Amino acid sequence: IYYWFISPCNFWSIGILIHTMNNLNNKKVLLIICGGIAAYKSLEIIRLFKKNGVTIKTILTKNGAEFVTPLSITSLSQSKVYQDLFSLENEAEMDHISLSRWADLILIAPATANTISKLANGISDDLASTVALASNKKIFVAPAMNVRMWEHQSTKENIAKLKTYNYKIIGPTIGDMACGEYGEGKMLDPKEIINQLKSYFKNFKPKNKFKAIVTAGPTNEYIDPVRFITNKSSGKQGYEIAKSLSKQGFDTTLISGPTNLKIENNINLIHVETAEEMFQATLKNLPVDVAIFSAAVGDYKIKNTSKIKIKKQDKLNLELEKNVDILNYVSNHNSLRPKLVVGFAAETNNLEDYANKKLNEKNCDWIIANDVMNKKIGFNSDYNEVSIFYKNDKIDKLAYKLKSEISDEIVEKIINH
Ligand code: PMT
Repeated sequence: IYYWFISPCNFWSIGILIHTMNNLNNKKVLLIICGGIAAYKSLEIIRLFKKNGVTIKTILTKNGAEFVTPLSITSLSQSKVYQDLFSLENEAEMDHISLSRWADLILIAPATANTISKLANGISDDLASTVALASNKKIFVAPAMNVRMWEHQSTKENIAKLKTYNYKIIGPTIGDMACGEYGEGKMLDPKEIINQLKSYFKNFKPKNKFKAIVTAGPTNEYIDPVRFITNKSSGKQGYEIAKSLSKQGFDTTLISGPTNLKIENNINLIHVETAEEMFQATLKNLPVDVAIFSAAVGDYKIKNTSKIKIKKQDKLNLELEKNVDILNYVSNHNSLRPKLVVGFAAETNNLEDYANKKLNEKNCDWIIANDVMNKKIGFNSDYNEVSIFYKNDKIDKLAYKLKSEISDEIVEKIINH
């Protein structure tokens, strides 16, 4: 018992335990700051978010910018502040729909009587109200206003409407107001707002109960017991897709070639090494509703793998034979075929032609193509830029962004599909 208490390893493991128990860790929150004196408290909310491991994006309304500056928000949140609905720069980087889809949750704090009224009446005349109207995520509203405004019949009716639209209203509280009056209308304390969000995520039970399978990473094709042929795949893209699926409530199995990556326990992770093992593991875990083949599977294996280490010689000829094409096999067996089959295409040239060829030849529903000549994306990068090719000749382009963001958008499209 003494050892248990003093062991540094133990403090370390308790630290990890506390961190993983934090329900806000790794969550993505879109914070909307409206124009009220309580806006200064939103800086404290951002500080607490960062302390709790939350990734934040912020929308600052025109009136909000009268109370806090974009610079102070960016400095604290370490991310860009979005202000204009019709900004060319924003739309290219992350349009208003993507912004509403990116978040796990939206928090409007402070929410003024004006913004509440707009939300209640479906008005979308600025970025904040448009994103809220376009969102399919839980929206928390932390009102802050003068007591008379809060008690006004119109505000009461608007709040009642928002509740029926499934908005979560947190606060306000009673206290002294900046205007000198006393009563109900003060925004909740930032710590209390954080606690409310924590308990939401603690009790959050995703609605979907679909099953998904993802293949990821490279395969090793053995020449002899110590040598193999492999490729540059890190597994990052596939792992991020598995995480996004799981976050959205999919019962997710990730079949991974050799990587150094870790993943949450709620994902069924199966380690494999060769293409043949990946194939067997995939078959074993069917049927599923959705299958996403992001692995860079070796197209060839060594015909006669040596059971012992091959001695050095002047010349070594290796005979290669084709590996089974996992995607092709699953897509073309009706009894196994998931409702949605998504393949990837890693191309160095003629991306569109080759992607369309794979879409048809492998009989998948979508092909997600990335240009792997571009060193900033694709293999072993944290970033990617992809085009999704559909059967009806439609193409969706997802601009350069983190693989985690690309994955969220792909999964959003899967859900919509
Ligand atoms: O792992 P990262 O470092 O994050 O990099 C991500 C990535 C570049 C590997 C990924 O985005 C990607 O493009 N994966 C597919 C790579 C590939 O090998 O593509 P392909 O064009 O050779 O294969 C086409 C499709 O058939 C793929 O879905 C592949 O998984 C599948 N395939 C291929 C061969 C085979 N024997 N079995 C298969 O299932």
